[in-house]
Amino acid sequence: MLNLLGRCCLITGGSRGIGLAIATRFAQAGATCTLVARDEAQLRNAVSSLPAPNQQQEHDFLVGDVGDESFWELSVKTKPDIRILVNSAGQPQNSLLRKTTPEAIDHLVRVNLLGAIYGTKFYASEMSRRKEGCIINISSVLADTGGAGSAIYAASKAGLQGFTKSMVAEVSRFNIRINNILPGYIETDMTAAMDSTARSMVLSKIPLERFGTVEDIANAAHYLVTSRYVTGTNLVVDGGYSAS
Ligand SMILES: NC(=O)c1ccc[n+]([C@@H]2O[C@H](COP(=O)([O-])OP(=O)(O)OC[C@H]3O[C@@H](n4cnc5c(N)ncnc54)[C@H](OP(=O)(O)O)[C@@H]3O)[C@@H](O)[C@H]2O)c1
Repeated sequence: MLNLLGRCCLITGGSRGIGLAIATRFAQAGATCTLVARDEAQLRNAVSSLPAPNQQQEHDFLVGDVGDESFWELSVKTKPDIRILVNSAGQPQNSLLRKTTPEAIDHLVRVNLLGAIYGTKFYASEMSRRKEGCIINISSVLADTGGAGSAIYAASKAGLQGFTKSMVAEVSRFNIRINNILPGYIETDMTAAMDSTARSMVLSKIPLERFGTVEDIANAAHYLVTSRYVTGTNLVVDGGYSAS
């Protein structure tokens, strides 16, 4: 496994699911991780589940809402040494637009899109001073395919793609890379809420005939973090769902 020894990572949505799997993979490679979510008890458990870093540092957590700009102001002051930022915090939608309140729309965009934008804004400045950085945004195949009941979710995840491409033009000269992962349907709490009919329908559209695992996404994140010449890309990890 390529070495991330001594690299400090901040992973939003790190208390469970995809974020925790990425943190685990990075910690196995020697990185020191700070996990971000809103539930402190879950964060404590997640931090204690990580393999210990191979040096004096310790894994840590920050409790906060990524959609709140003031969280990021504080985060960058508390943890200025972050070299790898993974924006994985996100929330699903399961409502037709006509039944979605303006408050719910605002909330989804705030967490799924603005969370990553704020994180990048604050940490790209720090990274540019140190001339080193890697940012990974967790988008979704729904950004490309869309889906009834997911209009705002898909719009917020698609927004990450334009954002990422634009940031390449702004940050590459500071040796900062930024990429998106587009997971398909992955076994986490987010997909556990699907009923059996919806699940079977989705499964019938996945050529590799299974939902993805969080390790499938952690592998993709590890590839992006260790691939020095990859930036501005959308890495689709969906078992062929969007290709069929
Ligand atoms: N699972 C899939 O099939 C799938 C597919 C495509 C894309 N994705 C994307 O992958 C990412 C991770 O999803 P997942 O399946 O791992 O979801 P998950 O198991 O539900 O985990 C979501 C994580 O985000 C945190 N979170 C949610 N809202 C937050 C907020 N406002 N501020 C800070 N943290 C927040 C949650 O902790 P708290 O609730 O404690 O805050 C939790 O740690 C999301 O962006 C999701 O959209 C998932």
